[in-house]
Amino acid sequence: MMTRKVGSALVGAALIAIAAVVAGTVHSAPQEPGLTGVEAARLREAFRRVDENPFPEDNPYSPQASDLGARLFFDPILSGEQTMACASCHNPATAWTEGRPRGIGESGIAMKQRTPTLLNVAGLGPLGWDGKFPDLESVSFTPIVSSGVMNLPEAVLIARLRADPSYVRDFTTAYGENAITRQNIERALATYERSIVSGAAPFDRWLAGDDTAIGASAKAGLRVFSGKGGCIGCHSGWAFTDGSFHDIGVATGADTGRGSYFPTSVKLRYAFKTPTLRDVTTRAPYMHDGSIATLRAVIDLYDRGGIDRPSRSPAIRPLNLSETEKANLIAFLETLNSETTPTALPLR
Ligand code: HEC
Ligand code: HEC
Repeated sequence: MMTRKVGSALVGAALIAIAAVVAGTVHSAPQEPGLTGVEAARLREAFRRVDENPFPEDNPYSPQASDLGARLFFDPILSGEQTMACASCHNPATAWTEGRPRGIGESGIAMKQRTPTLLNVAGLGPLGWDGKFPDLESVSFTPIVSSGVMNLPEAVLIARLRADPSYVRDFTTAYGENAITRQNIERALATYERSIVSGAAPFDRWLAGDDTAIGASAKAGLRVFSGKGGCIGCHSGWAFTDGSFHDIGVATGADTGRGSYFPTSVKLRYAFKTPTLRDVTTRAPYMHDGSIATLRAVIDLYDRGGIDRPSRSPAIRPLNLSETEKANLIAFLETLNSETTPTALPLR
């Protein structure tokens, strides 16, 4: 069976009907309807997985550091009242997001933005929806010490960890004696996060050459994705993100995204980071502000072309998609859902 269970609130009956059609056609389609052999070869190359070591020289991978990072990531000892871990928001069960429109910190107050997935985060450039963090190491302490998130002062965290013999042991194993420092906490968390990679999906089997791995509707959707829809311009490569910032015509008012750091740039006003589309149907609601509840509504937004203004990317304009094209796009996005339960596995 090629389709993974879809959260019922996400896409509704229409998609289930499509999924049934797709499933029914998987084994009966000898050719690739909607894709010529040349197109398929070009797309297989465009989405090929590039096997590169994502670990920087000044924070190399070691299993000990990654294990320590995993332990920290899932441990509520990192929050003031010890009720909240990184994983409370970046929850592996919902593709490393929270499944709600805004992050809610330990205080119960909603954050300004939705929790982004951490899938394939190692390959991204600047982090955060607006790119405020230069790298993974620099993200770690912001949620810990922010009063609206985990609300734990640095000194209290260090004292708590030093008072726990099992943490003293694990830091020593990973980094040597007297190693419970802010820098090593950042390094361990970042090492673990670099190992959070989406699992193999039907689309990966198609990439590997199995023409029957995705159905006719998904193939037609892939064609819209990479042609008429122009999606591939930003959602590019194996992880379906260019790691860059664009205004797709969603945000309004003072929510200027990357533009808040570059006030004179017209193009960066209302620009947010392109999210990966891996496992995308399992992590509604969508966008940096969680403002779009369903995938179908996202497709409708692209079809309308978002808010027309000088900052909007030239790639975003009314698309005039038919109902079938929209359904096919969703069928394609479905094939990016991993078939395995998402788990964090070190690449090497
Ligand atoms: C209360 C929910 C919440 C908790 C707890 C939380 N985060 Fe986040 N995280 C967010 C939100 C919301 C953002 C987006 C912030 C932004 O863009 O400014 C984010 C962004 C990130 C990013 C950037 C991802 C990207 O794609 O750009 C990383 C990495 C990250 N968090 C790691 C962590 C780590 C490590 C911890 C634990 C120390 C943690 N988070 C705890 C909600 C949370
Ligand atoms: C100009 C670049 C660009 C193009 C073209 C583009 N996207 Fe996006 N996409 C983005 C950005 C940037 C966001 C995040 C915007 C935000 O959070 O406000 C996004 C968000 C999404 C999301 C929500 C993901 C999430 O985790 O919230 C989906 C789904 C999506 N795009 C699918 C598509 C499809 C399908 C197409 C083609 C019809 C497309 N995109 C075309 C840049 C682009």
